[in-house]
Amino acid sequence: RPVALRISVVGTGYLGAVHAACMADLGHTVVAIDVDPAKVEALAAGRAPIFEPGLDELLERALATGRLTFTSDYAAAAGADVHFICVGTPQRRGENAADTSYVFAAAESLAPHLGASTLVVGKSTVPVGTAARVLERLRRGAPAGDGVRLAWNPEFLREGFAIEDTVAPDRFVYGVDGDTADADVALLDQVYAAPLATGTPRLVTDFATAELVKVSANAFLATKISFINAMAEVCEAAGADVVALAEAIGHDDRIGHKFLGAGLGFGGGCLPKDIRAFMARAGELGADQALTFLREVDAINLRRRSRMVDLARAECGGTLIGKKVAVLGAAFKPNSDDIRDSPALDVARAAHLAGATVTVHDPKALPVARRVHPDMSYADTIEAACEGADVVLHLTEWKDYRDIDPAALKAVVSSPHIIDGRNALDPARWRGAGWTYRALGRPHPVVA
Ligand code: UDX
Repeated sequence: RPVALRISVVGTGYLGAVHAACMADLGHTVVAIDVDPAKVEALAAGRAPIFEPGLDELLERALATGRLTFTSDYAAAAGADVHFICVGTPQRRGENAADTSYVFAAAESLAPHLGASTLVVGKSTVPVGTAARVLERLRRGAPAGDGVRLAWNPEFLREGFAIEDTVAPDRFVYGVDGDTADADVALLDQVYAAPLATGTPRLVTDFATAELVKVSANAFLATKISFINAMAEVCEAAGADVVALAEAIGHDDRIGHKFLGAGLGFGGGCLPKDIRAFMARAGELGADQALTFLREVDAINLRRRSRMVDLARAECGGTLIGKKVAVLGAAFKPNSDDIRDSPALDVARAAHLAGATVTVHDPKALPVARRVHPDMSYADTIEAACEGADVVLHLTEWKDYRDIDPAALKAVVSSPHIIDGRNALDPARWRGAGWTYRALGRPHPVVA
């Protein structure tokens, strides 16, 4: 029988809220701590701070068992067997490096409440070398002193699949250190007993390797996307089709089809800032040459956004000034209301700054987009966003947009031009309904 543990989770953002709810669902007793009382209040009432499929239901279920509580009081962490640090590490303003101040603040606030032989577990994505410094800080601040133990256990969750990725990840990585390493591994095995029982691989490493596993995985994923987007640039120049190319190279098992979706490129709270922070950290370590290629990965990614604006301008007859542009999608990817570093909103803003009247639609992200970019126009329906449009830009591949009836939408626009920034629409359907369909990395017209 799995052992039910007492767990504290510090930070209730994306990672922490999902982790806390999942741990309670696995049978553990969880107290989740956040310095933001508004977040605590919402979560305690079963309202997730973000849109994540299944999270509201999971919260409700976990809260009903009484095993999940939320508080702003760090003292509530006292007595827990395991403390997870799940705070964010955003990009520092004006720099590439990650801001680890929340991680250290969490460690400092937690330290006074750490009794003998409790295990602190870092889950946040951090620059390599952070764990060792966090352990020092914990030991300095805790009554248990050198009795405090630390493990680094990175998360690999994707937004939109966060629950699945937490309870059934591809692998667990435990970075451990010192004499208690075996005991730390055993305790983490108890935490994750249920998913481990299904055969999930579990790798035990040192701190530095565990920290690097996370950022190198994200660097690889970003590189894969930029690789195919670089091919898209060549396809555009040569009149070839990147969608067919990706399909063909993906059949090689060593390459695979995943993350070869050419289009507007990657955004979100992780990949862009993680590759930048990784470069910055490599520089500090004197290994900057090893990662200069990531600069190119970043540049290729950002070039897709300008290419999109250029195509929109071309479709509007050479200028965006005074033109009506409909933007379908604000979230950085579908099934999320996250607009952090959203390629879609970046393009929308660029078109707006180039003089177009831009109206943005998104099935979930409109409230946050309206709050963060109040200077743009928004519409609650696809039809309203496209009303009188000179060009429609499909920038986030929500299912709602695949379900559009092109013939019906044609009746509301001023001129039926669509640019598919995600290669997710069916060119034949749109062209069949009388639209000019263009896409990134594909010949015009597409010979599909
Ligand atoms: C990513 C990693 O997948 C996850 O393992 C890590 O823990 C956090 O960062 P996430 O940011 O949620 O997760 O999104 P992901 O699904 O990986 O997509 C990232 C971006 O890449 C999105 O903007 C998406 O639109 C884009 N993308 C993805 C492509 O442009 N093409 C693809 O083929 C795949």
